[in-house]
Amino acid sequence: MNDKWINETKLWTVEYTDNQKQLLDDKDLKEAAGLLAQGEVVAFPTETVYGLGANALSTEAVNKIFKAKGRPGDNPLIVHIASMDQLQPLVQPLSSLVNRCMERFWPGPITFVLRSNGIVPANVTAGLNTIGVRMPSHPVAQALIKLANVPIAAPSANLSGRPSPTLAQHVLHDLRGRISGIVDGGPAGFGVESTVVDMTGPFPVILRPGGITAEQLQEVTGEVRWDPSLYNSNEAPLSPGMKYTHYAPNGTLFLVEGPINATYFEKINEYVKQEKKQGEKVGILTTVENEAKYDADVVLSCGSRGDLQTVASKLYNVLRTFDDNQVTVIFSEMFPEEGIGIAIMNRLQKASGGKIV
Ligand code: TXA
Ligand code: MG
Repeated sequence: MNDKWINETKLWTVEYTDNQKQLLDDKDLKEAAGLLAQGEVVAFPTETVYGLGANALSTEAVNKIFKAKGRPGDNPLIVHIASMDQLQPLVQPLSSLVNRCMERFWPGPITFVLRSNGIVPANVTAGLNTIGVRMPSHPVAQALIKLANVPIAAPSANLSGRPSPTLAQHVLHDLRGRISGIVDGGPAGFGVESTVVDMTGPFPVILRPGGITAEQLQEVTGEVRWDPSLYNSNEAPLSPGMKYTHYAPNGTLFLVEGPINATYFEKINEYVKQEKKQGEKVGILTTVENEAKYDADVVLSCGSRGDLQTVASKLYNVLRTFDDNQVTVIFSEMFPEEGIGIAIMNRLQKASGGKIV
């Protein structure tokens, strides 16, 4: 089976400063961009998570993404651009609302779903008449897209269903031998994916909570609505990708509800005891404030409750570390659903398949 895959996945380490020119001259980035331009798939850092890129204008190149990830064909990809010039040929004319949002939030962690003009091949959009587009702010992503000189379709660079990668080593773990290369630019920033917003109607509809919060969006647009499936599990999601179980560690994950106090810690420690009796290897997902409160096989601290951005940036790495430690059952604290906490809880809910105790 191996001969159907790539023999070697190249790994380039790119040091970056804010000096774009230096990056555009970088020999490794040029090599990576050359492979993209030739129709190969290459992973790269963004300010959210690592992406797995291919030329968005090539059906064959985009097929390689689906094959490498084992991604269902009905889940559309986000097209990444480095300038507005790369956007115009792909979409129908932009409304003033869309223009204002792009001016305010791009480059940055938000994807706008717009009306496609049909230039991008059907496997990028999963046959929809809309297209998700994002201009990332990460200097390495920007330089790579500029050098490749084509729009780049890129989902998160994980095997389908696994937690998204926030480090190059996560990508290597999932996709080594399945893709042409990985640009290692150090840890991704936000740690959760971009906010996906449908901009095809009179007001923005959030399809996936992410790096830009609803409050930030509202400042520009006045009104913001949510895909009803985000708060009502009986509704079908408007975004195809949101119907899949995602971000799941190998162990069974339970979210533990309730105010975080002495009773809460006791309750979790009691669950741990019961599971250990059944022969399970038990993990706890907590934060620096509470890590000393638990007695389990693997207690992992995911940033600080005092700053939910730190939780977002560590979340996927912590979920993957439970796997590295062969943890079979995980109990996780829950987080306030405000600001970036909405994205964190959305991912934890999906990772747990909605199991709350
Ligand atoms: O931060 C991010 O968005 C990362 C980095 C690499 O940019 N990318 C990412 O891609 O998370 P992916 O493929 O893992 O998630 C894309 C999500 C999916 O839920 C997909 O269904 C949705 O965006 N999406 C893409 N195009 C869409 C469209 N035309 N209409 C509705 N949803 C769309
Ligand atoms: Mg993904």
